[in-house]
Amino acid sequence: MTHRILFVCLGNICRSPTAEAVTRAKAAARGLELILDSAGTGNWHVGKPPYAPMQDAARIKGYDLSPLRARQVRPADLSDFDHVIVMDNDNASDLASFGPTDRVALFTDYAPHVGASYIPDPYFTRDFEGALALIEDCAEGLLDTLERDARQD
Ligand code: 4NP
Repeated sequence: MTHRILFVCLGNICRSPTAEAVTRAKAAARGLELILDSAGTGNWHVGKPPYAPMQDAARIKGYDLSPLRARQVRPADLSDFDHVIVMDNDNASDLASFGPTDRVALFTDYAPHVGASYIPDPYFTRDFEGALALIEDCAEGLLDTLERDARQD
């Protein structure tokens, strides 16, 4: 089964496009086929590429965010994607205005050993490297979970 995964944050220019690109690269390295996308609960940056400082931090680690463009969450996303993965609890509560949230999960829940309960927003903290490192850990945890579930099917 090819999982369809949507990453969601507030602006779709920092955390969720990074989560999409990092997960895409790590899934390819494992030979896993996934359908990945990202979106924001807000609409301020629709059509824009990821934020330049976020792109710079990602590029240093080998991730190219430049082809991505921001879009806003659509109500159909909540049923079209198998997993809707949010960066913080505000994203989760904001999603409730788009539709049912039974497929919504926190990205950090996939990396419990890291001890973080959300991905801090680097647009405000300015810690782009820290957000990227956390996203890399969560992406590995997510892929571990998908592989483990696939073995049990
Ligand atoms: P993101 O960060 O949710 O990780 O994309 C943000 C980027 C921009 C804004 C908020 C969050 N903004 O308010 O413009």
